[in-house]
Amino acid sequence: MKFFIDTANLEHIKEAQDLGILDGVTTNPSLMAKEGITGKENIMSHYKAICEIVDGDVSAEVIATDLEGMIREGEELAALHEQIVIKLPMIKDGVKACTYFSNKGVKTNVTLVFSPGQAILAAKAGATYVSPFLGRLDDISSDGMGLLSEIRLIYDNYGFNTQILAASIRHTMHVIDCARIGADVMTGPLHSILGLLKHPLTDIGLEKFLADHNKGN
Ligand code: G3P
Repeated sequence: MKFFIDTANLEHIKEAQDLGILDGVTTNPSLMAKEGITGKENIMSHYKAICEIVDGDVSAEVIATDLEGMIREGEELAALHEQIVIKLPMIKDGVKACTYFSNKGVKTNVTLVFSPGQAILAAKAGATYVSPFLGRLDDISSDGMGLLSEIRLIYDNYGFNTQILAASIRHTMHVIDCARIGADVMTGPLHSILGLLKHPLTDIGLEKFLADHNKGN
């Protein structure tokens, strides 16, 4: 399973990259705003800065909701850096834009996916990634991991090439559940990744090893 980090925070991206396990980055307009990145010029240069830190795919989201606008913005974003993946919303024009970019060999990530039907459409449109928002389903007492399982089953039934990018990951157990079900990629905040490191027996064991070593020195 590939590990993407879901943030526009450059320090968090660097920390995950330094760990040596980072495969890419996802962002969205809310994550950009959270870091105080506003205005087209600043947003574009922030995407470039992210691409310079990581080696893998970096999702950059269009703001337009009409086909023409999405194509125009998507082309501008794609021209920024070869690592940029155009993130498109799961709406009618988003599907059309996805088909347009797929036919041109430009990578896409269809976002705001909450149902198996939407995931089928994204795959039919040739999306590189489909992003089911698992945490947001859990937030409304729905079953995020259940959706992930259904998409995995459907995609495997037909050998769709679209990679399932489990998004809206909130904590470490989400990451483990994604791996169990077989997400191709998970994208989560830094703490959901660092949480995988933690086990009290590791800390206790290391403390004892060091204490025993020091007895003999
Ligand atoms: O980047 C999209 C998605 O991961 C957002 O997550 O936590 O705002 O539901 P969240």
